[in-house]
Amino acid sequence: MSTDLQFYLAGKPQRIEGLDPTLTLLDYLRDHRALTGTKEGCNEGDCGACTVLLGHYEPLSETIQYRAVNACITLLPAVHRHWVVTVEDLSDGPNSLHPVQSAMVQHHGSQCGFCTPGFVMSLAAMHLDGAAPDAAETYIAGNLCRCTGYGPILEAAKDSVGAPRDPAFTAKEETAKSWFRSLTPDTGLFYETKAATSAHDAGSGEIYDAPVSLKALLQARAERPDAVLVAGTTELGLWLNKDLQDFPDLISTTRVPEMTAVTFQPDGTLVIGGAATYEQAWPLLRQVIPEGQDWFDRFASKHIRQQATIGGNVVNASPIGDGPPVLLALNAAVEMSSVNRQRTLPLATFFTGYKQTALAADEVLTGIHIPPREPHTYFSAVKVSKRRDQDISAVMAVFSWRVSNGYFHDVRIAFGGMSATPMLASGVNAALEGKGVSTEIIKSAMQALSRDFKPIDDLRASAWYRMTVAQNLLEDALRETIDASTSAAGKVPA
Ligand SMILES: Cc1cc2nc3c(=O)[nH]c(=O)nc-3n(C[C@H](O)[C@H](O)[C@H](O)COP(=O)(O)OP(=O)(O)OC[C@H]3O[C@@H](n4cnc5c(N)ncnc54)[C@H](O)[C@@H]3O)c2cc1C
Ligand code: FES
Ligand code: FES
Repeated sequence: MSTDLQFYLAGKPQRIEGLDPTLTLLDYLRDHRALTGTKEGCNEGDCGACTVLLGHYEPLSETIQYRAVNACITLLPAVHRHWVVTVEDLSDGPNSLHPVQSAMVQHHGSQCGFCTPGFVMSLAAMHLDGAAPDAAETYIAGNLCRCTGYGPILEAAKDSVGAPRDPAFTAKEETAKSWFRSLTPDTGLFYETKAATSAHDAGSGEIYDAPVSLKALLQARAERPDAVLVAGTTELGLWLNKDLQDFPDLISTTRVPEMTAVTFQPDGTLVIGGAATYEQAWPLLRQVIPEGQDWFDRFASKHIRQQATIGGNVVNASPIGDGPPVLLALNAAVEMSSVNRQRTLPLATFFTGYKQTALAADEVLTGIHIPPREPHTYFSAVKVSKRRDQDISAVMAVFSWRVSNGYFHDVRIAFGGMSATPMLASGVNAALEGKGVSTEIIKSAMQALSRDFKPIDDLRASAWYRMTVAQNLLEDALRETIDASTSAAGKVPA
Protein backbone atom coordinates (compact mmCIF):
# COMPACT_ATOMS: atom_id res chain seq x y z
CA MET A 1 0.00 0.00 0.00
CA SER A 2 1.25 3.43 -0.92
CA THR A 3 1.54 5.99 1.86
CA ASP A 4 2.62 8.88 -0.33
CA LEU A 5 0.93 10.43 -3.34
CA GLN A 6 2.47 9.69 -6.69
CA PHE A 7 1.54 11.47 -9.87
CA TYR A 8 3.12 12.94 -12.97
CA LEU A 9 3.19 16.71 -13.48
CA ALA A 10 5.20 19.21 -15.51
CA GLY A 11 7.30 16.50 -17.14
CA LYS A 12 8.36 14.88 -13.87
CA PRO A 13 7.19 12.20 -11.44
CA GLN A 14 5.97 13.69 -8.15
CA ARG A 15 5.93 12.14 -4.69
CA ILE A 16 4.03 14.05 -2.02
CA GLU A 17 3.83 13.62 1.70
CA GLY A 18 2.82 15.96 4.48
CA LEU A 19 0.36 18.10 2.53
CA ASP A 20 -3.21 18.28 3.79
CA PRO A 21 -5.26 15.60 1.93
CA THR A 22 -8.11 18.09 1.53
CA LEU A 23 -5.84 20.47 -0.38
CA THR A 24 -7.46 20.96 -3.76
CA LEU A 25 -5.55 20.28 -6.94
CA LEU A 26 -6.10 23.93 -7.89
CA ASP A 27 -4.49 25.28 -4.71
CA TYR A 28 -1.63 22.83 -5.10
CA LEU A 29 -0.96 23.92 -8.69
CA ARG A 30 -1.17 27.63 -8.02
CA ASP A 31 0.16 28.00 -4.46
CA HIS A 32 2.68 25.17 -4.26
CA ARG A 33 3.88 24.95 -7.87
CA ALA A 34 3.28 28.44 -9.26
CA LEU A 35 1.45 26.88 -12.23
CA THR A 36 -0.82 29.89 -12.48
CA GLY A 37 -2.10 29.19 -16.00
CA THR A 38 -4.87 27.27 -14.24
CA LYS A 39 -7.26 29.96 -12.98
CA GLU A 40 -9.58 30.24 -10.03
CA GLY A 41 -13.02 31.65 -10.84
CA CYS A 42 -15.97 30.31 -8.87
CA ASN A 43 -14.15 27.63 -6.82
CA GLU A 44 -17.27 25.44 -7.03
CA GLY A 45 -17.13 23.56 -10.32
CA ASP A 46 -19.31 26.00 -12.25
CA CYS A 47 -17.07 28.13 -14.48
CA GLY A 48 -14.34 25.81 -15.83
CA ALA A 49 -11.53 28.37 -15.39
CA CYS A 50 -9.62 25.73 -13.41
CA THR A 51 -9.93 22.98 -16.06
CA VAL A 52 -7.02 20.52 -16.25
CA LEU A 53 -6.79 17.07 -17.80
CA LEU A 54 -6.27 13.90 -15.83
CA GLY A 55 -4.51 11.24 -17.87
CA HIS A 56 -5.14 7.61 -16.96
CA TYR A 57 -2.97 4.83 -18.46
CA GLU A 58 -4.66 1.82 -20.09
CA PRO A 59 -1.97 -0.90 -20.09
CA LEU A 60 -3.74 -3.20 -22.57
CA SER A 61 -3.95 -0.59 -25.31
CA GLU A 62 -0.86 1.27 -24.04
CA THR A 63 -2.78 4.51 -24.38
CA ILE A 64 -3.55 7.40 -22.06
CA GLN A 65 -7.21 8.32 -21.67
CA TYR A 66 -7.88 11.93 -20.71
CA ARG A 67 -10.74 13.61 -18.93
CA ALA A 68 -11.23 17.31 -18.27
CA VAL A 69 -11.90 18.03 -14.59
CA ASN A 70 -12.40 21.05 -12.36
CA ALA A 71 -9.20 21.31 -10.30
CA CYS A 72 -11.02 23.47 -7.72
CA ILE A 73 -13.16 20.56 -6.51
CA THR A 74 -10.62 17.78 -7.08
CA LEU A 75 -8.68 16.78 -4.00
CA LEU A 76 -4.96 16.29 -4.48
CA PRO A 77 -5.01 12.60 -3.43
CA ALA A 78 -7.56 11.89 -6.18
CA VAL A 79 -4.80 12.40 -8.78
CA HIS A 80 -2.71 9.54 -7.34
CA ARG A 81 -1.28 7.52 -10.27
CA HIS A 82 -2.48 10.04 -12.90
CA TRP A 83 -0.81 12.48 -15.25
CA VAL A 84 -2.01 15.99 -14.39
CA VAL A 85 -1.93 17.92 -17.67
CA THR A 86 -2.08 21.69 -17.21
CA VAL A 87 -2.22 24.42 -19.84
CA GLU A 88 1.56 24.83 -19.43
CA ASP A 89 1.98 21.27 -20.83
CA LEU A 90 0.10 21.84 -24.05
CA SER A 91 2.62 23.74 -26.11
CA ASP A 92 6.36 23.37 -26.52
CA GLY A 93 7.36 26.51 -24.61
CA PRO A 94 6.21 30.13 -24.75
CA ASN A 95 6.87 30.58 -28.48
CA SER A 96 4.78 27.67 -29.75
CA LEU A 97 1.08 26.93 -29.79
CA HIS A 98 -0.89 23.71 -29.61
CA PRO A 99 -3.44 23.36 -32.50
CA VAL A 100 -6.35 24.29 -30.20
CA GLN A 101 -4.48 27.42 -29.08
CA SER A 102 -3.76 28.39 -32.70
CA ALA A 103 -7.44 27.94 -33.54
CA MET A 104 -8.44 30.15 -30.60
CA VAL A 105 -6.11 32.86 -31.93
CA GLN A 106 -7.36 32.52 -35.51
CA HIS A 107 -11.03 32.68 -34.49
CA HIS A 108 -10.55 35.51 -31.96
CA GLY A 109 -11.71 33.22 -29.15
CA SER A 110 -10.27 35.35 -26.34
CA GLN A 111 -10.69 38.90 -25.03
CA CYS A 112 -9.80 39.46 -21.36
CA GLY A 113 -8.32 35.96 -21.39
CA PHE A 114 -9.35 34.89 -17.89
CA CYS A 115 -11.46 31.96 -19.07
CA THR A 116 -9.13 31.07 -21.96
CA PRO A 117 -6.83 28.46 -20.35
CA GLY A 118 -9.92 26.59 -19.14
CA PHE A 119 -11.50 26.62 -22.59
CA VAL A 120 -8.22 25.60 -24.17
CA MET A 121 -8.03 22.57 -21.88
CA SER A 122 -11.62 21.56 -22.69
CA LEU A 123 -10.84 21.90 -26.40
CA ALA A 124 -7.67 19.87 -25.87
CA ALA A 125 -9.78 17.08 -24.29
CA MET A 126 -12.05 17.17 -27.34
CA HIS A 127 -9.05 17.07 -29.70
CA LEU A 128 -7.41 14.18 -27.83
CA ASP A 129 -10.70 12.24 -27.83
CA GLY A 130 -10.98 12.72 -31.60
CA ALA A 131 -14.59 13.83 -31.02
CA ALA A 132 -17.00 14.81 -33.76
CA PRO A 133 -17.10 18.59 -34.46
CA ASP A 134 -20.76 18.76 -33.37
CA ALA A 135 -19.74 17.61 -29.88
CA ALA A 136 -18.14 21.02 -29.23
CA GLU A 137 -21.02 22.34 -27.11
CA THR A 138 -20.87 19.25 -24.91
CA TYR A 139 -17.14 19.69 -24.30
CA ILE A 140 -17.42 23.36 -23.35
CA ALA A 141 -20.75 23.26 -21.46
CA GLY A 142 -18.74 23.46 -18.22
CA ASN A 143 -16.84 26.64 -19.23
CA LEU A 144 -18.14 30.17 -18.84
CA CYS A 145 -16.93 33.20 -20.78
CA ARG A 146 -18.12 36.65 -19.77
CA CYS A 147 -16.78 38.71 -22.68
CA THR A 148 -15.89 36.92 -25.93
CA GLY A 149 -19.13 35.03 -26.45
CA TYR A 150 -19.24 31.39 -27.43
CA GLY A 151 -19.44 31.64 -31.23
CA PRO A 152 -15.71 32.13 -31.88
CA ILE A 153 -14.78 29.49 -29.30
CA LEU A 154 -17.12 26.94 -30.90
CA GLU A 155 -15.59 27.75 -34.28
CA ALA A 156 -12.12 27.18 -32.83
CA ALA A 157 -13.27 23.85 -31.40
CA LYS A 158 -14.70 22.67 -34.70
CA ASP A 159 -11.67 23.85 -36.63
CA SER A 160 -9.06 22.24 -34.40
CA VAL A 161 -10.67 18.93 -33.54
CA GLY A 162 -9.53 17.21 -36.71
CA ALA A 163 -5.98 18.65 -36.60
CA PRO A 164 -3.17 16.09 -36.34
CA ARG A 165 -1.76 15.39 -32.90
CA ASP A 166 0.82 17.95 -31.86
CA PRO A 167 4.32 16.34 -32.02
CA ALA A 168 5.50 18.25 -28.94
CA PHE A 169 2.56 16.98 -26.91
CA THR A 170 3.03 13.44 -28.23
CA ALA A 171 6.67 13.53 -27.06
CA LYS A 172 5.52 14.55 -23.56
CA GLU A 173 2.93 11.78 -23.63
CA GLU A 174 5.66 9.21 -24.37
CA THR A 175 7.67 10.26 -21.31
CA ALA A 176 4.49 10.12 -19.21
CA LYS A 177 3.86 6.59 -20.49
CA SER A 178 7.35 5.54 -19.38
CA TRP A 179 6.49 6.79 -15.90
CA PHE A 180 3.17 4.88 -15.87
CA ARG A 181 4.99 1.69 -16.90
CA SER A 182 7.48 2.12 -14.06
CA LEU A 183 4.76 2.08 -11.39
CA THR A 184 4.42 -0.97 -9.16
CA PRO A 185 0.93 -2.61 -9.10
CA ASP A 186 -1.73 -0.52 -7.34
CA THR A 187 -2.30 -1.93 -3.86
CA GLY A 188 -4.21 1.09 -2.54
CA LEU A 189 -3.39 4.39 -0.94
CA PHE A 190 -3.36 5.27 2.73
CA TYR A 191 -2.25 8.87 2.90
CA GLU A 192 -1.97 10.41 6.35
CA THR A 193 -0.59 13.68 7.64
CA LYS A 194 0.56 13.91 11.20
CA ALA A 195 0.85 17.68 11.42
CA ALA A 196 -1.98 19.85 12.72
CA THR A 197 -3.61 21.58 9.77
CA SER A 198 -6.26 23.70 11.47
CA ALA A 199 -7.16 24.88 14.95
CA HIS A 200 -10.23 22.64 14.86
CA ASP A 201 -8.36 19.36 14.53
CA ALA A 202 -5.03 20.45 16.02
CA GLY A 203 -2.70 17.52 16.38
CA SER A 204 -5.14 14.96 15.08
CA GLY A 205 -3.64 14.39 11.64
CA GLU A 206 -5.70 13.84 8.51
CA ILE A 207 -6.38 10.75 6.45
CA TYR A 208 -7.26 9.96 2.83
CA ASP A 209 -7.77 6.24 2.49
CA ALA A 210 -8.35 4.83 -1.00
CA PRO A 211 -8.54 1.04 -0.88
CA VAL A 212 -8.56 -1.03 -4.07
CA SER A 213 -10.70 -3.97 -2.88
CA LEU A 214 -14.31 -4.05 -1.72
CA LYS A 215 -13.28 -6.04 1.34
CA ALA A 216 -10.79 -3.36 2.38
CA LEU A 217 -13.33 -0.60 1.70
CA LEU A 218 -15.98 -2.24 3.92
CA GLN A 219 -13.38 -2.97 6.59
CA ALA A 220 -12.30 0.68 6.64
CA ARG A 221 -15.95 1.76 6.88
CA ALA A 222 -16.50 -0.63 9.83
CA GLU A 223 -13.37 0.46 11.67
CA ARG A 224 -13.89 4.21 11.17
CA PRO A 225 -17.65 4.92 11.16
CA ASP A 226 -16.93 8.64 11.70
CA ALA A 227 -14.87 8.85 8.52
CA VAL A 228 -16.64 10.43 5.53
CA LEU A 229 -17.00 8.45 2.33
CA VAL A 230 -16.02 10.35 -0.77
CA ALA A 231 -16.42 9.66 -4.48
CA GLY A 232 -16.34 12.41 -7.14
CA THR A 233 -16.25 15.34 -4.62
CA THR A 234 -18.74 17.32 -6.70
CA GLU A 235 -20.75 17.80 -3.49
CA LEU A 236 -18.02 17.44 -0.91
CA GLY A 237 -15.73 19.87 -2.74
CA LEU A 238 -18.30 22.61 -2.18
CA TRP A 239 -18.77 21.73 1.50
CA LEU A 240 -15.00 22.16 1.78
CA ASN A 241 -14.55 25.33 -0.30
CA LYS A 242 -17.78 27.17 0.44
CA ASP A 243 -18.96 25.90 3.84
CA LEU A 244 -15.35 25.62 5.10
CA GLN A 245 -16.08 22.25 6.66
CA ASP A 246 -13.22 20.05 7.88
CA PHE A 247 -12.87 16.45 6.72
CA PRO A 248 -10.14 14.92 8.86
CA ASP A 249 -10.81 11.34 7.73
CA LEU A 250 -11.89 10.48 4.19
CA ILE A 251 -12.44 7.06 2.63
CA SER A 252 -12.55 7.08 -1.16
CA THR A 253 -14.77 4.57 -2.98
CA THR A 254 -13.46 5.21 -6.47
CA ARG A 255 -10.44 2.89 -6.74
CA VAL A 256 -12.45 -0.31 -6.09
CA PRO A 257 -13.17 -2.05 -9.43
CA GLU A 258 -16.52 -3.54 -8.25
CA MET A 259 -17.65 -0.05 -7.25
CA THR A 260 -17.13 1.42 -10.71
CA ALA A 261 -18.45 -1.58 -12.69
CA VAL A 262 -21.64 -1.21 -14.73
CA THR A 263 -23.12 -4.50 -15.96
CA PHE A 264 -26.30 -6.25 -17.03
CA GLN A 265 -27.21 -9.36 -15.02
CA PRO A 266 -28.53 -12.40 -16.94
CA ASP A 267 -32.16 -11.42 -16.09
CA GLY A 268 -31.63 -8.00 -17.70
CA THR A 269 -31.22 -6.05 -14.43
CA LEU A 270 -28.72 -3.22 -14.84
CA VAL A 271 -26.34 -2.97 -11.88
CA ILE A 272 -24.52 0.35 -11.54
CA GLY A 273 -21.63 0.20 -9.06
CA GLY A 274 -21.88 2.62 -6.14
CA ALA A 275 -18.92 4.68 -7.45
CA ALA A 276 -19.68 4.64 -11.19
CA THR A 277 -19.81 8.12 -12.63
CA TYR A 278 -22.63 9.40 -14.81
CA GLU A 279 -20.36 9.13 -17.88
CA GLN A 280 -19.30 5.57 -16.99
CA ALA A 281 -22.90 4.43 -16.47
CA TRP A 282 -24.52 6.12 -19.45
CA PRO A 283 -23.52 3.72 -22.28
CA LEU A 284 -25.52 0.90 -20.59
CA LEU A 285 -28.12 3.08 -18.86
CA ARG A 286 -28.90 4.56 -22.28
CA GLN A 287 -29.88 1.07 -23.44
CA VAL A 288 -32.56 1.06 -20.71
CA ILE A 289 -33.77 4.63 -21.26
CA PRO A 290 -32.85 5.86 -24.73
CA GLU A 291 -35.53 8.54 -24.12
CA GLY A 292 -33.28 9.88 -21.31
CA GLN A 293 -30.59 11.43 -23.56
CA ASP A 294 -31.71 14.99 -22.86
CA TRP A 295 -31.86 14.30 -19.11
CA PHE A 296 -28.29 12.94 -19.24
CA ASP A 297 -26.97 15.82 -21.38
CA ARG A 298 -28.46 18.34 -18.99
CA PHE A 299 -26.95 16.83 -15.85
CA ALA A 300 -24.35 19.50 -14.98
CA SER A 301 -21.59 19.44 -17.63
CA LYS A 302 -19.28 16.83 -19.11
CA HIS A 303 -16.58 17.92 -16.64
CA ILE A 304 -18.89 17.17 -13.70
CA ARG A 305 -20.44 14.01 -15.19
CA GLN A 306 -16.96 12.53 -15.50
CA GLN A 307 -16.48 12.96 -11.72
CA ALA A 308 -19.98 12.79 -10.23
CA THR A 309 -21.18 9.35 -9.23
CA ILE A 310 -24.81 8.23 -9.41
CA GLY A 311 -24.29 6.69 -5.94
CA GLY A 312 -23.17 10.07 -4.56
CA ASN A 313 -26.22 11.74 -6.12
CA VAL A 314 -28.50 9.16 -4.42
CA VAL A 315 -26.82 9.21 -0.98
CA ASN A 316 -26.76 12.99 -1.00
CA ALA A 317 -30.59 12.71 -1.00
CA SER A 318 -31.05 16.27 -2.20
CA PRO A 319 -34.68 17.08 -3.05
CA ILE A 320 -33.38 18.63 -6.28
CA GLY A 321 -31.01 15.85 -7.37
CA ASP A 322 -31.72 14.87 -10.98
CA GLY A 323 -30.83 11.18 -10.73
CA PRO A 324 -33.21 9.99 -7.98
CA PRO A 325 -36.54 10.83 -9.71
CA VAL A 326 -35.42 8.87 -12.79
CA LEU A 327 -34.36 5.92 -10.64
CA LEU A 328 -37.64 6.04 -8.68
CA ALA A 329 -39.65 5.92 -11.90
CA LEU A 330 -37.52 2.97 -13.06
CA ASN A 331 -38.32 1.12 -9.79
CA ALA A 332 -34.63 0.95 -8.86
CA ALA A 333 -33.30 -0.63 -5.69
CA VAL A 334 -30.19 0.29 -3.72
CA GLU A 335 -27.67 -2.27 -2.53
CA MET A 336 -25.96 -1.45 0.76
CA SER A 337 -23.04 -3.45 2.12
CA SER A 338 -21.13 -3.70 5.37
CA VAL A 339 -18.56 -6.21 6.57
CA ASN A 340 -21.33 -8.42 7.99
CA ARG A 341 -24.24 -8.10 5.61
CA GLN A 342 -25.61 -6.96 2.32
CA ARG A 343 -29.17 -5.71 1.89
CA THR A 344 -31.23 -4.26 -0.91
CA LEU A 345 -34.00 -1.70 -0.43
CA PRO A 346 -36.41 -0.20 -2.94
CA LEU A 347 -35.18 3.33 -3.59
CA ALA A 348 -38.70 4.54 -2.72
CA THR A 349 -38.03 3.62 0.94
CA PHE A 350 -34.38 4.77 1.00
CA PHE A 351 -35.10 8.49 1.48
CA THR A 352 -36.30 8.96 5.05
CA GLY A 353 -36.41 12.77 5.31
CA TYR A 354 -34.72 15.93 4.10
CA LYS A 355 -31.19 14.76 3.17
CA GLN A 356 -31.74 11.65 5.33
CA THR A 357 -31.41 8.06 4.13
CA ALA A 358 -31.70 4.51 5.42
CA LEU A 359 -27.92 3.96 5.03
CA ALA A 360 -26.41 2.78 8.34
CA ALA A 361 -23.15 4.19 9.71
CA ASP A 362 -21.20 1.03 8.82
CA GLU A 363 -22.64 0.71 5.31
CA VAL A 364 -21.50 1.73 1.86
CA LEU A 365 -23.88 2.07 -1.06
CA THR A 366 -22.38 -0.57 -3.34
CA GLY A 367 -24.87 -0.73 -6.20
CA ILE A 368 -28.02 0.54 -7.84
CA HIS A 369 -30.21 -2.14 -9.44
CA ILE A 370 -32.51 -1.17 -12.30
CA PRO A 371 -34.93 -3.90 -13.39
CA PRO A 372 -35.53 -4.46 -17.11
CA ARG A 373 -38.27 -2.30 -18.59
CA GLU A 374 -41.48 -3.88 -19.82
CA PRO A 375 -41.88 -3.56 -23.59
CA HIS A 376 -43.92 -0.58 -24.81
CA THR A 377 -43.42 1.47 -21.66
CA TYR A 378 -43.78 5.22 -22.01
CA PHE A 379 -40.87 7.08 -20.39
CA SER A 380 -39.97 10.72 -20.29
CA ALA A 381 -37.75 12.78 -17.98
CA VAL A 382 -38.08 16.56 -18.06
CA LYS A 383 -35.77 18.97 -16.22
CA VAL A 384 -36.96 22.53 -15.68
CA SER A 385 -34.16 24.94 -14.79
CA LYS A 386 -33.22 28.54 -15.50
CA ARG A 387 -30.29 27.60 -17.77
CA ARG A 388 -30.06 24.63 -20.14
CA ASP A 389 -26.60 23.47 -19.05
CA GLN A 390 -24.86 23.34 -15.70
CA ASP A 391 -27.91 24.26 -13.62
CA ILE A 392 -29.86 22.65 -10.81
CA SER A 393 -33.53 21.81 -11.38
CA ALA A 394 -36.45 23.83 -10.11
CA VAL A 395 -38.58 20.78 -10.99
CA MET A 396 -37.58 17.37 -12.29
CA ALA A 397 -40.49 15.31 -13.59
CA VAL A 398 -40.28 11.68 -14.70
CA PHE A 399 -43.17 9.72 -16.21
CA SER A 400 -43.25 5.99 -16.72
CA TRP A 401 -46.24 3.79 -17.57
CA ARG A 402 -47.40 1.01 -19.83
CA VAL A 403 -50.59 1.04 -21.86
CA SER A 404 -52.27 -2.29 -22.45
CA ASN A 405 -55.64 -2.71 -24.18
CA GLY A 406 -56.36 0.98 -23.64
CA TYR A 407 -55.62 1.03 -19.90
CA PHE A 408 -52.75 2.51 -17.86
CA HIS A 409 -50.58 0.00 -15.97
CA ASP A 410 -47.38 0.11 -13.90
CA VAL A 411 -47.70 3.87 -13.48
CA ARG A 412 -44.59 5.28 -11.81
CA ILE A 413 -44.41 9.06 -11.86
CA ALA A 414 -41.73 10.72 -9.71
CA PHE A 415 -40.72 14.30 -9.02
CA GLY A 416 -37.74 16.21 -7.72
CA GLY A 417 -38.00 19.77 -6.37
CA MET A 418 -41.55 19.24 -5.11
CA SER A 419 -40.96 17.98 -1.55
CA ALA A 420 -38.27 17.41 1.07
CA THR A 421 -37.04 14.32 -0.78
CA PRO A 422 -37.28 13.06 -4.35
CA MET A 423 -40.63 11.24 -4.33
CA LEU A 424 -43.07 9.08 -6.24
CA ALA A 425 -46.35 10.87 -6.90
CA SER A 426 -48.27 8.12 -5.13
CA GLY A 427 -51.72 9.73 -5.39
CA VAL A 428 -51.35 10.37 -9.13
CA ASN A 429 -49.98 6.89 -9.68
CA ALA A 430 -52.99 5.37 -7.88
CA ALA A 431 -55.39 7.66 -9.74
CA LEU A 432 -54.10 6.47 -13.12
CA GLU A 433 -53.43 2.79 -12.45
CA GLY A 434 -55.92 0.62 -14.31
CA LYS A 435 -57.82 3.61 -15.73
CA GLY A 436 -58.76 3.90 -19.38
CA VAL A 437 -56.61 6.10 -21.60
CA SER A 438 -58.81 9.10 -22.26
CA THR A 439 -58.77 12.84 -21.72
CA GLU A 440 -61.22 12.35 -18.83
CA ILE A 441 -58.45 11.23 -16.50
CA ILE A 442 -56.34 14.39 -16.95
CA LYS A 443 -58.27 16.56 -14.51
CA SER A 444 -58.35 13.96 -11.73
CA ALA A 445 -54.61 13.26 -12.21
CA MET A 446 -53.79 16.97 -11.90
CA GLN A 447 -55.94 17.25 -8.76
CA ALA A 448 -54.20 14.22 -7.27
CA LEU A 449 -50.86 15.91 -7.95
CA SER A 450 -51.88 18.97 -5.95
CA ARG A 451 -52.68 16.65 -3.02
CA ASP A 452 -49.41 14.68 -3.37
CA PHE A 453 -47.05 17.66 -2.98
CA LYS A 454 -46.77 20.93 -1.10
CA PRO A 455 -43.69 22.46 -2.77
CA ILE A 456 -41.64 25.20 -1.15
CA ASP A 457 -40.75 28.73 -2.24
CA ASP A 458 -37.02 29.30 -2.65
CA LEU A 459 -34.54 31.15 -4.83
CA ARG A 460 -35.01 28.71 -7.71
CA ALA A 461 -38.81 28.90 -7.94
CA SER A 462 -41.96 29.73 -6.02
CA ALA A 463 -44.29 27.01 -4.75
CA TRP A 464 -46.94 28.20 -7.24
CA TYR A 465 -44.49 27.98 -10.16
CA ARG A 466 -43.37 24.49 -9.17
CA MET A 467 -46.90 23.14 -8.87
CA THR A 468 -48.06 24.81 -12.09
CA VAL A 469 -45.07 23.48 -14.05
CA ALA A 470 -45.48 19.99 -12.59
CA GLN A 471 -49.18 19.91 -13.49
CA ASN A 472 -48.49 21.16 -17.01
CA LEU A 473 -45.77 18.55 -17.53
CA LEU A 474 -48.14 15.85 -16.29
CA GLU A 475 -50.85 17.01 -18.67
CA ASP A 476 -48.37 17.11 -21.59
CA ALA A 477 -47.14 13.57 -20.91
CA LEU A 478 -50.69 12.22 -20.53
CA ARG A 479 -51.83 13.93 -23.72
CA GLU A 480 -48.88 12.44 -25.61
CA THR A 481 -50.01 8.94 -24.64
CA ILE A 482 -53.70 9.70 -25.15
CA ASP A 483 -53.05 11.20 -28.60
CA ALA A 484 -50.86 8.25 -29.59
CA SER A 485 -53.46 5.67 -28.50
CA THR A 486 -56.43 7.45 -30.00
CA SER A 487 -54.69 7.97 -33.34
CA ALA A 488 -53.51 4.33 -33.30
CA ALA A 489 -57.14 3.28 -32.75
CA GLY A 490 -58.26 5.59 -35.56
CA LYS A 491 -60.21 7.85 -33.17
CA VAL A 492 -60.19 11.61 -32.90
CA PRO A 493 -58.96 12.74 -29.43
CA ALA A 494 -61.74 14.26 -27.32
C1 LIG B 1 -21.13 22.52 -11.04
C2 LIG B 1 -22.01 21.45 -10.51
C3 LIG B 1 -23.17 21.12 -11.21
C4 LIG B 1 -24.02 20.15 -10.70
N1 LIG B 1 -25.15 19.84 -11.41
C5 LIG B 1 -25.98 18.90 -10.96
C6 LIG B 1 -27.16 18.56 -11.70
O1 LIG B 1 -27.40 19.07 -12.80
N2 LIG B 1 -28.00 17.65 -11.16
C7 LIG B 1 -27.75 17.05 -9.96
O2 LIG B 1 -28.54 16.21 -9.53
N3 LIG B 1 -26.62 17.31 -9.27
C8 LIG B 1 -25.74 18.22 -9.73
N4 LIG B 1 -24.61 18.52 -9.01
C9 LIG B 1 -24.38 17.85 -7.73
C10 LIG B 1 -23.43 16.63 -7.79
O3 LIG B 1 -22.69 16.62 -8.97
C11 LIG B 1 -24.17 15.30 -7.69
O4 LIG B 1 -24.94 15.20 -6.53
C12 LIG B 1 -23.18 14.11 -7.76
O5 LIG B 1 -23.83 13.00 -8.31
C13 LIG B 1 -22.54 13.76 -6.41
O6 LIG B 1 -21.67 12.66 -6.61
P1 LIG B 1 -20.15 12.66 -6.10
O7 LIG B 1 -19.58 11.35 -6.49
O8 LIG B 1 -19.43 13.84 -6.59
O9 LIG B 1 -20.39 12.77 -4.53
P2 LIG B 1 -19.38 13.25 -3.38
O10 LIG B 1 -19.31 14.73 -3.35
O11 LIG B 1 -18.10 12.51 -3.46
O12 LIG B 1 -20.21 12.72 -2.11
C14 LIG B 1 -21.52 13.20 -1.86
C15 LIG B 1 -22.10 12.49 -0.63
O13 LIG B 1 -22.37 11.13 -0.92
C16 LIG B 1 -21.68 10.27 0.00
N5 LIG B 1 -21.31 9.08 -0.78
C17 LIG B 1 -20.74 9.09 -2.01
N6 LIG B 1 -20.63 7.82 -2.46
C18 LIG B 1 -21.12 7.01 -1.50
C19 LIG B 1 -21.29 5.59 -1.38
N7 LIG B 1 -20.95 4.76 -2.37
N8 LIG B 1 -21.86 5.08 -0.25
C20 LIG B 1 -22.25 5.93 0.74
N9 LIG B 1 -22.09 7.27 0.70
C21 LIG B 1 -21.55 7.81 -0.42
C22 LIG B 1 -20.54 11.08 0.53
O14 LIG B 1 -20.15 10.65 1.82
C23 LIG B 1 -21.16 12.48 0.58
O15 LIG B 1 -21.93 12.59 1.75
C24 LIG B 1 -23.72 19.49 -9.48
C25 LIG B 1 -22.54 19.79 -8.80
C26 LIG B 1 -21.70 20.76 -9.30
C27 LIG B 1 -20.44 21.08 -8.57
S1 FES C 1 -12.83 27.77 -10.44
FE1 FES C 1 -14.77 27.71 -11.43
S2 FES C 1 -14.94 25.61 -11.95
FE2 FES C 1 -13.18 25.70 -10.77
S1 FES D 1 -12.39 36.15 -22.61
FE1 FES D 1 -13.00 37.28 -20.86
S2 FES D 1 -14.18 35.82 -19.72
FE2 FES D 1 -13.80 34.85 -21.57
